[in-house]
Amino acid sequence: MIELVTSQINKYIEQLHDERVVELFSQIPSGKMLRSKLILQIAPFKEAVKLAAVVELIHMASLLHDDVIDEADLRRGRPSINATFGNKPAIMLGDILYSKAFYELSSLPSPLPQIISNAVTLLSLGELLDVELSRSFNPDIDRYMDMIYKKTASLIEASAMAAATIAGKDAQRYGLYGKNLGLAFQIVDDILDITQDEATLGKPAMSDLKEGKTTLPFIYLYEALEEPDRKRLLKLFKKELSRDEKLWLEERLQSTGSLNLAKEKATKLGEEALACLDEKDEKLRSIMTQLIDRTY
Ligand code: IPE
Ligand code: IPE
Ligand code: MG
Ligand code: MG
Ligand code: MG
Repeated sequence: MIELVTSQINKYIEQLHDERVVELFSQIPSGKMLRSKLILQIAPFKEAVKLAAVVELIHMASLLHDDVIDEADLRRGRPSINATFGNKPAIMLGDILYSKAFYELSSLPSPLPQIISNAVTLLSLGELLDVELSRSFNPDIDRYMDMIYKKTASLIEASAMAAATIAGKDAQRYGLYGKNLGLAFQIVDDILDITQDEATLGKPAMSDLKEGKTTLPFIYLYEALEEPDRKRLLKLFKKELSRDEKLWLEERLQSTGSLNLAKEKATKLGEEALACLDEKDEKLRSIMTQLIDRTY
């Protein structure tokens, strides 16, 4: 089924009749397609393939813009579009993918267009909040959770709700499942930024703090540290890190249990996601555990 999503995406790109877009798009390798897998697991029907393709286009558009915002030069193991062609083509390709996705979304049955487009507004509000929070070190967990709900969980929540609607299942319940899963997903992404190397991730590693992103492990670290270490942490915020500084951070994140606490939070949200479902769907459980235990 997942191959049907890939061919639907390619069809959408061909329909744009633009060689430049085809060329740029061919430089984007395929990702994990988590959102499509979730949609097809909840709604294993042909009607859900278009929904999944639209969501993947939206997700790709958000990554194109995100890499410009984060000045990231690597995506899915390859140089990002902004790194190879510059920010302007990356932004415009993002706009093209967004608008094509919305055009296709508009012919899906109601309330799918409303559910998905509302999530894109939230995603964009979340990215804006992420940028604003990065002005100074943010020790506030509630603000962090609100931001990751908007930038990441909202689209996963909407995907689950829309799929449940197609399948005639309880959209609220599946929405809550998707929301908790999405929150766990972003926390894991933030942990992997610290624990994995660039080659494994296929995107820059240990780059969040440098970019001004006070992710959950760093919030816990801030809470755990006392002076003068706390001051030392604040000094590393938004700084190009030396090897020794990276090693110091990694050691402190481990020894204070901050990374573990973040992992526990993600696991708990993953369990809450499953608890939203009546039937103990083994496939949806395995999507959850794969997501928590993933290495990239
Ligand atoms: C990356 O999403 C952006 C986040 C929301 C963390 P994915 O990890 O799903 O990216 P791909 O599609 O597999 O590359
Ligand atoms: C971005 O979060 C999530 C989006 C909605 C695009 P990140 O900035 O952490 O995503 P990565 O790590 O670059 O994939
Ligand atoms: Mg990023
Ligand atoms: Mg970002
Ligand atoms: Mg990240």
